[in-house]
Amino acid sequence: MTAEAVTSRPRIVLDCDPGLDDAIAILTAAHFGELLGITTVNGNVGIEHTTHNALATAQVAGLDVPVHRGAARPLIAPTMDAARIHGATGLGDVTLPGLTRSVASTDAVAFLCDTARSIDDLHLVAVGPLTNVALALRRDPDLRSRLAGLTIMGGGAHAGNVTPVAEFNVWADPEAAAIVFNEAAPLTMVGLDVTHKVLLGGDEAARMRSTGTPAAGFAASLLDFAYARCREFGLEAAPVHDATAIIAVTHPHLFRRSNHPVAVELHGEHTRGMTVTDVRPPAAIAAEAAPPPVHDVVWDADASAVIDLIVEAVVSY
Ligand code: RIB
Ligand code: CA
Repeated sequence: MTAEAVTSRPRIVLDCDPGLDDAIAILTAAHFGELLGITTVNGNVGIEHTTHNALATAQVAGLDVPVHRGAARPLIAPTMDAARIHGATGLGDVTLPGLTRSVASTDAVAFLCDTARSIDDLHLVAVGPLTNVALALRRDPDLRSRLAGLTIMGGGAHAGNVTPVAEFNVWADPEAAAIVFNEAAPLTMVGLDVTHKVLLGGDEAARMRSTGTPAAGFAASLLDFAYARCREFGLEAAPVHDATAIIAVTHPHLFRRSNHPVAVELHGEHTRGMTVTDVRPPAAIAAEAAPPPVHDVVWDADASAVIDLIVEAVVSY
């Protein structure tokens, strides 16, 4: 299985929890793809903030893209956020002028299902907790077959961030992630293995800011905040996780990937939310009575090319 053949501008619905890197992903998706809609989910911060932030990002970039509000809490897990990374509002310390946009609906799941039924070349890209996608699978069990591609920013074969082995989007709603990994194969997992290699910092913020446009200045300010928080954790630059997932859809040739069974751990005291990726030889996996579904796992990228594309998108508005 390789990356689905991608048209020059893939038609994308972006499910997200803006979020600093989600906002940059919105700008990236609208530049390199045909962004049909944005659905919001509780994640980095609460649904009120993630929805406001999606609307504000579309507004500052002048994007004519509908925003549909989604799930306000995980399926079962307690609601946890990442405000210590993204700031209390989810957009760092950035304040945007008065929001004039409003949501197209408060039923993101209906929008996801209806759009998947109405066109046959839809790429669903989910860069937050998978609550909306899991609920959409419950509403339409054939959802995956209606999609040209399903790509998530989430998980990691050999990496974690909120725990030593779990990545935030999967960890925040592991039951939803388990439904998606078990019932919507194959998906492309753009996990921390690769997103931790696509790092933006002061140079990229300066490149963005040099154009002087409101959207580029907005993105540069988000990056400044992310970069400062990363330095507090001893990192030299900020991984722009979600925009990397967009580039994996629009420019798949820049990524190294392979196919492996992946299972989401739900019960481990130390491993809940882990995407357990089986990298053993096929013969060993074939000996398993019921191996987990196989997914397209992304391991590496031409990071400098990905970074240049993200900057190119941000400065294009
Ligand atoms: O672990 C990184 C992911 O969690 C990104 O999607 C970021 O926005 C946060 O949601
Ligand atoms: Ca996100």
